[in-house]
Amino acid sequence: MSDEIRLAVAGLGTVGAGVVDLLDRNGGPIAARAGRRLSVAAVCARDRAKDRGVDLAGADWHDDPVAMAGAGGHDIFVELIGGAGGPAKAAVEAALAAGKHVVTANKALIAEHGAALAAQADAAGVALAFEAGVAGGIPIVKAMREGLAGNRIGRVVGILNGTCNYILTDMRHSGRRFEEVLTEAQDLGYAEADPRFDVDGIDAAHKLAILTSLAFGVAVDFAGVSIAGIRKVTPVDIAFAEELDYRIKLLGIGALTDSGIEQCVEPCMVRRDSPLGAVDGVYNAVTVQADAAEDTTYEGRGAGAGPTASAVVADIVDIARGRVLPAFGIPAGALEPLQRADVEARRGAFYVRLIVRDRPGVMADIAAALRDERVSLENVFQRGRAPDDAVPVVLTTHEGGEAALKRALVRIGGLETVLEEPCLIRIEDS
Ligand code: HSE
Repeated sequence: MSDEIRLAVAGLGTVGAGVVDLLDRNGGPIAARAGRRLSVAAVCARDRAKDRGVDLAGADWHDDPVAMAGAGGHDIFVELIGGAGGPAKAAVEAALAAGKHVVTANKALIAEHGAALAAQADAAGVALAFEAGVAGGIPIVKAMREGLAGNRIGRVVGILNGTCNYILTDMRHSGRRFEEVLTEAQDLGYAEADPRFDVDGIDAAHKLAILTSLAFGVAVDFAGVSIAGIRKVTPVDIAFAEELDYRIKLLGIGALTDSGIEQCVEPCMVRRDSPLGAVDGVYNAVTVQADAAEDTTYEGRGAGAGPTASAVVADIVDIARGRVLPAFGIPAGALEPLQRADVEARRGAFYVRLIVRDRPGVMADIAAALRDERVSLENVFQRGRAPDDAVPVVLTTHEGGEAALKRALVRIGGLETVLEEPCLIRIEDS
């Protein structure tokens, strides 16, 4: 075994520069843990002249990441370009074809092509490592793939997008609306100029699809994730959640059910004093429910140069030490196709908020629609009194069928006294 492991780093943005900086800053302990010296032998980025605040003097520069990936002179290809297809995918495929280990932070690539790339890595006898792709600095891939290897996992639930958690936290503290908080977050650099991947739940869904695969030993199935973002969350619902001792969080949930595996990303209410309920700001957290270990929760920063570089370097150290595991914990050929849960069979407890005309008989009409669909209520209350004017009414349900509740809400939404589309939020107590 050579006493040096050589890296080719494609992409020198915040994360790429963070990796080079971390390797330099913590070179001593990293080399001791890796058992070898690590060197950045090659790099590829658009702008060679840009000052990134890191020393790249010893690295060969490349313009084409695909050519660099397949070239000689390195042992590990580190893909930090991003994007599900395009040069990132082509470069990772080229690296694997050339028998190079791959370390990537690219959740979209793994969520959309993970099973095929894992098969290619297995065939080549190399690693495809993506710790940095899920929840940044939290070592959740390692925890699930290795730390919980003795367990059957039943459910994985996570706050997987720091931008959304930041916005929801600010909305709670300030009482401001989503649009206002988003604009400020963009001005402060906490949210992207194009925020859709984050606020519409796609980024969280990429990460959830990867966690689901790790949890249940199934081929990653991003297309099977039901996705709703946070645009429709209102200050009024955040305030009602608080009154009910809940917090609204954008959760990714992967669960084994009687009809198959359920995967969803949506705003949910979680108990304020639960491990996830207490996670605020840009932080991520993941709870894994397992049969032997029971519930374990992992929390930390989900993005940024340091946390993401930490995860990339951890994968590099594993490979340098010869710890090369199947990407999803079991050989790619043994990953079962994911059997999707029957949407009609989904169950849960829910919060429903209506805006109704304050008039006798309104509650009776609402109750009749719920009775006819056999929806069991836990709590009903109206706030304020405004004869013949609009007031909010809140209902919480016991656990029951989601489809039946949605049918009742269609009928309720059609009542002349119900003034807005009902707001429905899952209560995630389990
Ligand atoms: N944009 C993501 C977030 C981090 O806000 O959490 C990278 O996946």
